[in-house]
Amino acid sequence: MKLYPTKTVDEILTTLSYIIDIENSRNLYHHWRVAILTQKILVSDKSTTFYAALLHDLGSIGLPHHIIHYLIKPNPKNINLLLSHPIIGSQLISLIPSMEKSAQIVLNHHETFDGKGYPTAKKAKDIPEGSQIIRLADFIDIWINKKKNITLAEIVKKIKGSENKEFSHSLGEKAIGELRKKNFFYSIVNNKNIPNLFKESKSKIYPFKIKRGIDAIGLTLEVVAQSIDMRQPFSAGHSLRVSCYAMAIALAMKLEHDEVTKIKWAGLIHDIGKLTIPKNILNKPTTLTKKEFQRVTQHVLMTEKILRMAPSLEELIPIAFYHHEHFNGKGYPYGLKKENIPLGARILCICDAFDAMTSNRPYRPPLSPWIACEKIKALSGKQFDPEIVKYAIPILKSLGV
Ligand SMILES: [Fe+2]
Ligand SMILES: [Fe+2]
Ligand SMILES: [Fe+2]
Repeated sequence: MKLYPTKTVDEILTTLSYIIDIENSRNLYHHWRVAILTQKILVSDKSTTFYAALLHDLGSIGLPHHIIHYLIKPNPKNINLLLSHPIIGSQLISLIPSMEKSAQIVLNHHETFDGKGYPTAKKAKDIPEGSQIIRLADFIDIWINKKKNITLAEIVKKIKGSENKEFSHSLGEKAIGELRKKNFFYSIVNNKNIPNLFKESKSKIYPFKIKRGIDAIGLTLEVVAQSIDMRQPFSAGHSLRVSCYAMAIALAMKLEHDEVTKIKWAGLIHDIGKLTIPKNILNKPTTLTKKEFQRVTQHVLMTEKILRMAPSLEELIPIAFYHHEHFNGKGYPYGLKKENIPLGARILCICDAFDAMTSNRPYRPPLSPWIACEKIKALSGKQFDPEIVKYAIPILKSLGV
């Protein structure tokens, strides 16, 4: 498996930025639009700010609804919900190698020029320029969403009205100049144009360089894993644990180094498709209806679609895609049997079930690792591959969960 860290991390971040804006099967393109606008307004330090724009609201992923709705209709009741998202987002982004500066920009993207922003009410020059640019790009996208068919004259008026309040006068004027160029404004308001405009913007940005000798891909996928799990309060740490268990089993089975890495990484993102499932279904405290359950099962199909957006991760697709197939053919989506299910997926299936059993749920306490292992043994040859169960039990039993 030959992968280029800079290219792979770039693909992962671009994909993450795309999927966190999916709401009820349509894309709001908040992050991509803010990134396009940011690239136009940028003065210096381009990649750092552009990548910060791509993920600036990652910290809001745990909110009940997309953050744009809270910003379109500000309600004092919701302010507490919003206050922490720049902090959570910057913490997540700082875990990605070479993105420490972008994390600082994200931390300050709701600070305003007049010192009335959050989280620390910084003023004017104390706010990094990149954060001010994202504030302005964010401001424009919020108005595009707030007022249907907003005109160029109206948006210019809104920007002028907020100069030296939300952002500096000079940045406001730079944005107005860009919006007036050719058809740019009327092009960016239309969601259909976003993928092409985004491609164009990105071609003008150098991907940030990743230092040698760091497992940048693994660490970036860990951030994706945390983002996936933040959507479901009851699944905190699930993806990371599944990945660790799967890696331990793969090592015990003496699989080749590359295969172990693929299984570890596929474990981190096996549920990435869940980012596209509505939260009210994912977090429903009562039993799901048949239709809702079907929707949840679709997360594996979405996992495949999403991973196709990051071509470097192609080899992870079969492992992640089949993690709900059962050894006896009674799983989903295809009801594959035995060795027709990729080995990595058969390993993930055990780890996924083990972690679900040993995690807390609103309707039951967690099982002990010992009892969970007894249940897994009982399902050996049915849900699980008996050969893998033999390797898995001693590892899982000894875990302090
Ligand atoms: Fe934000
Ligand atoms: Fe935003
Ligand atoms: Fe799953």
